[in-house]
Amino acid sequence: MSDALLRLDGVGIRFGGLQAVGDLSFSVRQGQVVGLIGPNGAGKTTAFNLITGVYRPSEGRIELDGRDITGWAPHRIARAGIFRTFQTIRLFYGQTVLVNVLAGLHLQTRQHWWQGLLGTPFQRREEVELRAKVRELLARLELDTVADEDVASLPYGLQRRVELARALIAKPRLLILDEPAAGLNDQESAALNRTILAVRDQGISVLLVEHDMNVVMNVTDNIVCINFGRKIAEGTPEHIRNHPQVIEAYLGKDDDEDDVQAPVSRPAHLAAGGGGA
Ligand SMILES: Nc1ncnc2c1ncn2[C@@H]1O[C@H](COP(=O)(O)OP(=O)(O)OP(=O)(O)O)[C@@H](O)[C@H]1O
Ligand SMILES: [Mg+2]
Repeated sequence: MSDALLRLDGVGIRFGGLQAVGDLSFSVRQGQVVGLIGPNGAGKTTAFNLITGVYRPSEGRIELDGRDITGWAPHRIARAGIFRTFQTIRLFYGQTVLVNVLAGLHLQTRQHWWQGLLGTPFQRREEVELRAKVRELLARLELDTVADEDVASLPYGLQRRVELARALIAKPRLLILDEPAAGLNDQESAALNRTILAVRDQGISVLLVEHDMNVVMNVTDNIVCINFGRKIAEGTPEHIRNHPQVIEAYLGKDDDEDDVQAPVSRPAHLAAGGGGA
């Protein structure tokens, strides 16, 4: 247990009368891809907002590398190595891909704001270094050909990849992705799978919310399923795929006891990606 990179212990938050997340415990080890799944409104994004410091938990403890980060401000958590993408795209439209990805580096720059105004040699040298670093990452993500284009002109799948690049450029220890495959076509989501696995192979841990079971079942080592803010199952993709409570949470409970139409087999979106690999 001590080898956990991220650990949540009994984490919860209430919004008025609603327990959006309650008693949530799980961990992510270094180099592991963990999926967080659950029906709409289950509390997945809220859990991410708790981990990244957008919300302060009303109970429980969050640790990064054994260090208590509960209640830390978002910028401090980012500095500690947790970076994220958002459920809806947040890019600077009207700016190039390069500039958007550079923005992900601002936490790392050593320069002070006044050096930017003066345009000191130090600042210029650092700028050149940073741009080279960004171009290298863009090449790895096959974004180099669009580096100087306005992000607004790119197809949706590439915009998503630019967001990923912006999070990766900061060399996170933990990458948190909120529905990265939403809106992607099959080819784009297959490319996303490869990217996630490549990220993991660099030793970066990934925590992923995703409804696309082709992504979830094929890239995760471990899955945590929540419903109404609480964990209902945890385990390997194979375990989760066949878990009765998970299937029920996705199907919804059938009110009509006599309805013989209720499928015995799992829902299609859980069955997707059944081949594993
Ligand atoms: N800031 C907030 N204030 C009040 N209620 C909130 C707030 N944020 C989320 N909620 C509520 O908490 C619950 C969990 O929402 P959340 O967005 O975390 O779900 P989700 O699992 O990400 O759903 P989806 O799959 O639709 O993205 C919902 O009932 C939502 O309405
Ligand atoms: Mg969400």
